[in-house]
Amino acid sequence: MSEDRFARSAWFRHDRFGMFIHWGPYAVPARGEWLRSHERVPLADYQYAVDGFGAEDFDPHTWAELAAAAGQKYAVLTAKHHDGFCLFDTALTDYGSMHNGIGRDLVAEFLEAFRARGIKVGLYFSLLDWRHPDYPHHGDWAHPERDNPAFASHEPDLESYRAFLHGQVRELCTNYGKLDILWFDFSYEGMGPEQWGAADLVAMVRELQPDVIMDNRLETSGEGMGSIVTDEPTSYCGDFVSPEQVIPVEGFHTPDGTPVPWEACVTLNNNWGYAAADDLWKSPEQVITKLVECVAKGGNLLLNVGPDARGTIQPEAAERLRRIGHWLEANGESVYGAGPAGFGSPEWGYYTRSGSTVYAHVLRAPIGPLPLTGVPKDAIERISLVADGQELKLCEEWVVASYPDIPFVQFGEVGHFTYPLPDPVDTVVRIELKDDSTPVGGTS
Ligand code: GLC
Repeated sequence: MSEDRFARSAWFRHDRFGMFIHWGPYAVPARGEWLRSHERVPLADYQYAVDGFGAEDFDPHTWAELAAAAGQKYAVLTAKHHDGFCLFDTALTDYGSMHNGIGRDLVAEFLEAFRARGIKVGLYFSLLDWRHPDYPHHGDWAHPERDNPAFASHEPDLESYRAFLHGQVRELCTNYGKLDILWFDFSYEGMGPEQWGAADLVAMVRELQPDVIMDNRLETSGEGMGSIVTDEPTSYCGDFVSPEQVIPVEGFHTPDGTPVPWEACVTLNNNWGYAAADDLWKSPEQVITKLVECVAKGGNLLLNVGPDARGTIQPEAAERLRRIGHWLEANGESVYGAGPAGFGSPEWGYYTRSGSTVYAHVLRAPIGPLPLTGVPKDAIERISLVADGQELKLCEEWVVASYPDIPFVQFGEVGHFTYPLPDPVDTVVRIELKDDSTPVGGTS
């Protein structure tokens, strides 16, 4: 298998941390983006949401400033979610932000502002479209009208729907300059690559946007991984695996052991779209350590915000993002451009690695010195704290006498003393190895 298979995503594997943005009329009912399906809301009864979605306060420059402050290197906006409402200028329907009282191309504004900040840009595009008359209604797995007898004789016209889907993707790939990510969502039983015309769709995308990377959901859903992890990838298997609302137990590999790029997408509370009553926020500490876990396993983290109907990112989210960014400002070298270290999983945290530099992410304080398990003692050149550059010593005292082969690092002058960790969230210790040919012992 050629090593080039994942070459397109080199920047993505370097950047590691992105902002996901779910925004659309569902912010008006403020119960998440699936409400039409969950509450069986007919199209006409959703019109108040479309009418109420005003984007009055939308200033994408403030969003981009926040993403930059959070240390997020790329961002993915919902150009269209399952409700079918388009945030971009499309000739194929009036159901979007160019009409309906908004009169703005929200996608174009987003792209301009994020690009201006040097943040890579991606667009999420729903393969489902609950507004389109030719999309399966009755009997479909998720459609709002799935069990409405009035639609019992509705006949989906998949050929017409495919033409619409391909036409809109063509618009996005043609009218908006260079896109870095196309994030398709999603396949399910009965609606998959064949129904999407995935092979033709991808051929078109690759022609119009040769460098864009795609997720794996034209072929599968958040749960499955698809043929990207096999020896026989399809043309539409995508460039990365997209686990949702979970950090994978371990990284993904092809049968010959080649690491497969992946990105965990995770909400900051429990909803993608704005949900006013959802106050189950993840803490900045939780997100930081989960980001590090992703990197240690060879993956990325795409962290979601769901702005309100006026276009404001909730203060609870903004405040958390800034705190995450503050940690990354000091410790980013252990995340950006880093990946698995190959030294196994220490009991106290994670290792990440960039070339001949290994980073010990110490999440739990030791008693006395900390064992750098897995790291060969004689390969160590120098040890220091990433946050302030302070040099740390390897412990040679009697406390470690029983473990002559394990390097123990001490956090203060006296080897057998216990010191509080300098950063209670994640103290990052830089371990410079003598050369980067030090054998890699594993995949995590
Ligand atoms: C999903 C959902 C959804 C969300 C998303 C993000 O499968 O349908 O609403 O946009 O994936 O990963």
